[in-house]
Amino acid sequence: MPRKIAAGNWKMNGTRASLAELSAIATAHPAPSVEVLICPPATLLARATDAGAVALGGQDCHAKTSGAHTGDVSAEMLADAGASYCLTGHSERRTDHAEDDATVAAKSQAAYDAGLTAVICIGETLAEREAGTTLDIITGQLNGSVPLTATATNTVIAYEPVWAIGTGLVPTTDQIAEVHAHIRTHLADKDIPLLYGGSVKASNAAEIFAVPNVDGALVGGASLKAEDFSPIITALENA
Ligand code: 13P
Repeated sequence: MPRKIAAGNWKMNGTRASLAELSAIATAHPAPSVEVLICPPATLLARATDAGAVALGGQDCHAKTSGAHTGDVSAEMLADAGASYCLTGHSERRTDHAEDDATVAAKSQAAYDAGLTAVICIGETLAEREAGTTLDIITGQLNGSVPLTATATNTVIAYEPVWAIGTGLVPTTDQIAEVHAHIRTHLADKDIPLLYGGSVKASNAAEIFAVPNVDGALVGGASLKAEDFSPIITALENA
C-alpha cells in the first residue's frame, strides 16, 4: 500500500514569522497517522527544523551538486538544511523557468543522489484537457520526467492540473480518478504515492481523498495557515 502524505507547498510565501504556523501544525498533529510534509521557501528550511515532527522539503533543486550557478540551491544543500523531500517539475517552474521533462528528470535524479525523495509534479493545461490529450500529456511527462530508478522510497508523483492551481477550479472526482488510475498503471513500482494538487481545501479534501489511487494532496494556498491545513491532514487520516 502506498503511504499517505499531506503536503504543503508554500511557494514564494513566508518569512520567519510564518514558522509559527509550522509549529501550530506540528502541535495540532503530534503523532499523525499520515506523513505531513511542508515545503517552505529555502530561506526558512534550516529554521523550520525546530518546528517539530513535520517532514520538510525544498521546492526546487539544481541538477548539479555544486558550482557556478548563482542563485541556485543544490539537493545536497537542501538535505544539509534539514529537507528530506524536494519538489521537482512544479508547473510554475516549468513555466517561469522553462524547465522541460529532461531537466525535471535530471533534478529528480539529483534529489535521489542527495538522499531526498523527489515529489515529481505533472499535469495538463486547460488547452490540453479541452483538446482531449490529457492522458497523452501525462504519459509523456511520466516518461520524460521520472527517472527509471524511481521507487516508492525515493519518489512521489503529484498530479496537478495546471488549470486547477490557484484558481478554485477542481476537476471532477471522475477526472481525478481517470488520471490517477492511468499514472498507477504506468509506474513500475505500484507503491509510489500519488498526490492530487490544485485548489485543495478543507471543504473538498475528504471528497478528493475518497478517489481511488489518491494517496494524499499537494496543497498550495491552504497550507499557509495551520487552521486551513490542519483539517486537510485530519481528512487524510480519516480517509
Ligand atoms: P493551490 O492549492 O493554491 O491551488 O496550489 C496547488 C499547488 O500548486 C501546490 O503545489
